[in-house]
Amino acid sequence: MRYTIILLAVASLSACDRKIEPTAAPDTVAVPAALSFDGAESSDPTERIAHGERLSHILGCTGCHKPNLEGQWFNDDAPEMGKLYASNLTRVLPTMSDAQLETLLREGTHPTRGDLWIMPSEVFQRLSEADMAALIAHLRTVKPSGAPTPAPAMSAMAKAAVASGKFKPVSASVAEYRTTTPPDLGEGHAFGRYIAATTCAECHGGDLTGVPDFLPGVNTPDLDIAGAYSDAELVTLLTTGKGKTRADLGLMTLVGKGHFSHLTGRERSALIAYLKARADRPQPARAN
Ligand code: HEC
Ligand code: HEC
Repeated sequence: MRYTIILLAVASLSACDRKIEPTAAPDTVAVPAALSFDGAESSDPTERIAHGERLSHILGCTGCHKPNLEGQWFNDDAPEMGKLYASNLTRVLPTMSDAQLETLLREGTHPTRGDLWIMPSEVFQRLSEADMAALIAHLRTVKPSGAPTPAPAMSAMAKAAVASGKFKPVSASVAEYRTTTPPDLGEGHAFGRYIAATTCAECHGGDLTGVPDFLPGVNTPDLDIAGAYSDAELVTLLTTGKGKTRADLGLMTLVGKGHFSHLTGRERSALIAYLKARADRPQPARAN
């Protein structure tokens, strides 16, 4: 699976006047959630590793880094940006400690290269300690294979986009998502909110209100749109990728099938209940 044009989307996403500080580390560490996906707390280490493997699909590691985690040239449909690889993780993982890996995943900073690009750490920072530990335990079982991928080499055009603030490092999104969070709809919806905050928020915005021009010419909608879907239609979308009125929703169809078919029934139901409750909430004055 590829969704390479995200690179351009990331570029257009921040086309506003947001200030960019490419080398700034986040000033605070996001508070890890108290809730976890199903199975993170298993007392059986083998089950925890299997849980981490499931997360690697739900969180899209296997989408961008390929199912075998050997990586790929990420922006081959936007070659004018230079060469940015979703790295061959199988070769990189043995070079990093668990602590370095967790910092990389949560903050979007690389132990030797500094700023990271494209990786959605803004949502990974929201993972609970138990989910993060299971994910790392799974990654530790991956054997080295394939050719190492080169470090990113940006074109002059990409560098200019960085300089002008149009193409932001991951750390900037991490900082933004600390304060832009899905609404808290009470204890009964905390689990569904956790699922949405760590998955849907990657593309539908930190608070799920949608992102204009997420892909060239495609907005991701405010997830209030879930209110127009029945529960059964949402289950279809989040298992087969088929939309209610359009079967093929492009990237959404890819992730509906490739990522969210790996949710447990309990996770999917909680997510759907949260999205429905969010769509029905009394509307506060909103910025847009
Ligand atoms: C949207 C695409 C995308 C997703 C999803 C994604 N990554 Fe990445 N990842 C990248 C790209 C692109 C890079 C290279 C970034 C750079 O070089 O600045 C990268 C880099 C990395 C690195 C650093 C590798 C190196 O070169 O040293 C690690 C480790 C990593 N990803 C792990 C993960 C894990 C684990 C997951 C799932 C939890 C994940 N990634 C999900 C795109 C993605
Ligand atoms: C990797 C990016 C990505 C992720 C992650 C993602 N979406 Fe989407 N989603 C999109 C895009 C892009 C669209 C717009 C598709 C279009 O209109 O062509 C979309 C559209 C939708 C729609 C509207 C479909 C329609 O009928 O118009 C719904 C509902 C939706 N997403 C739900 C979700 C939910 C729930 C999650 C989390 C479980 C999620 N999405 C996660 C990218 C994503």
